[in-house]
Amino acid sequence: MAVYDYAKGLVIEAGNNIRKMMQEEIDIETKSNPNDLVTNVDKATEDFIYNNIIDNYPDAQVIGEEGHGKPMSELKPEGIVWVIDPIDGTLNFVHQQENFAISIGIYNDGKPYAGFVYDVMNDKLYHAKAGEGAFVNEHPLKPIADSELKKSLIGINPNWLTKPQIGVIFKKVVDDARTARAYGSAALEIVNVARGKLAAYMTPRLQPWDFAGGLIILNEVGGVGSDLLGKPLDLTQPHSVLVGNKAVHEEILNKHMLSERETLEALHARYKQ
Ligand code: IPD
Ligand code: CA
Ligand code: CA
Repeated sequence: MAVYDYAKGLVIEAGNNIRKMMQEEIDIETKSNPNDLVTNVDKATEDFIYNNIIDNYPDAQVIGEEGHGKPMSELKPEGIVWVIDPIDGTLNFVHQQENFAISIGIYNDGKPYAGFVYDVMNDKLYHAKAGEGAFVNEHPLKPIADSELKKSLIGINPNWLTKPQIGVIFKKVVDDARTARAYGSAALEIVNVARGKLAAYMTPRLQPWDFAGGLIILNEVGGVGSDLLGKPLDLTQPHSVLVGNKAVHEEILNKHMLSERETLEALHARYKQ
């Protein structure tokens, strides 16, 4: 079976397992701070996906948020690399029991191969094979249209607006936009850009497993992604992220980000530690 079809089946099975596990009590632990949560379901889902991949593709390189596979810095671009976030939007999972996704990006010899973002509770699987268009379940996603920032909705995690430096920069973008929205799952926000529901999404720090799947889907409908200074995103380190339709991406970059190069470079250095 082609890797793409195998991965599609695997994500759906993992989602079915999550729905079953949600019928039992969930164990919640904190990670780096009291608001950084992980549950037994995050861990069990990553175990399930990782073990299944290694059983079927013993040579695959895998990076997963919950500790499976290689450290990102040891990643070799050769061959197939799977980048997994078993639950993106864990706070939504814990507090809302919806609005979370399984995200998987697959890269082959350093190039995008396929992206999967499964909105588990709505049973919507967003998927794309590079060069062959993007789909939600079996329905093709349309190419996204350009827009002007002043007539656009943009996605942003509101916590960043209260932070010094990045808050000042992001507030100006929000002021210039029609308004802002927050969904609480980076993978779903990127998919919302790919669906044309948001014109852009921006954040000063994401890990590769947050954006690897969504970015491939977005590129297939003509959307673009970079860091906040326009540099390409890679899988070996955390990045700031700006995704959008081409016109709004360019407008935010040129009008709001490149003029703040020094501040953003200092933030990049800090957030990569
Ligand atoms: C988080 C979500 C959230 C984003 C954070 C991510 P997690 O992932 O995508 O929307 O703002 O930066 O860490 O922890 O729920 O997998
Ligand atoms: Ca995540
Ligand atoms: Ca996660």
